[in-house]
Amino acid sequence: MDLMEAIKGRRSIRKYKPDPVSEGALEKVMEAVKWSPSWANTQCWEVIVVKDPNVKSQLANTLTATNPARSSMTEAALVVVLCGKKGVSGFKKGEAATVKGDWLMFDTGMAMQNLCLAAYGQGLGTVVVGMFDHKKAEEILGVPQNVEVVAMTPLGHPATEGTTPKRKDFSEFVFSNRYPKKG
Ligand SMILES: Cc1cc2nc3c(=O)[nH]c(=O)nc-3n(C[C@H](O)[C@H](O)[C@H](O)COP(=O)(O)O)c2cc1C
Repeated sequence: MDLMEAIKGRRSIRKYKPDPVSEGALEKVMEAVKWSPSWANTQCWEVIVVKDPNVKSQLANTLTATNPARSSMTEAALVVVLCGKKGVSGFKKGEAATVKGDWLMFDTGMAMQNLCLAAYGQGLGTVVVGMFDHKKAEEILGVPQNVEVVAMTPLGHPATEGTTPKRKDFSEFVFSNRYPKKG
């Protein structure tokens, strides 16, 4: 698949068929995470692949009833939980190297995008889920103190194509040389 076609064609999928995800497809998706860029190649990401329907259902309950991705967490064959090791990305000799502190959100974000694109390339659907009770999810999954759950996604066979939300025009976010003056 052409890269721009994949970038533009990937959609958030919130309706899934119950069909299983093949081990081969899952491996390709994990390969995409593995080859993501990261701060000084620190690779702070850790991934929990949830197949157990009971654990999926507990994770679904960490989303509010109004989160549109809630039912997809139990519908899809798998849920992939993306975690980040704290104090690794963005650190030099134990000290934060920039004013941004821990870059784990950034690195896991890049890994999640690779994951979503690779899944799309395999004909699989994803939707990044960030709005949930992270502390509860960490308890359910037994995540240790030095690691945090960042985001999760259902991973499975799409039952819909998904809708394409409008994007901003270049003029709204691409600036030349300097940030534009207001007024
Ligand atoms: C960091 C992040 C958190 C998100 N959290 C949720 C969520 O909790 N529930 C949900 O339904 N969609 C969530 N989304 C999906 C966005 O709503 C979706 O990406 C956006 O509307 C653009 O649609 P598209 O992915 O089809 O291009 C999240 C996306 C990102 C990047």
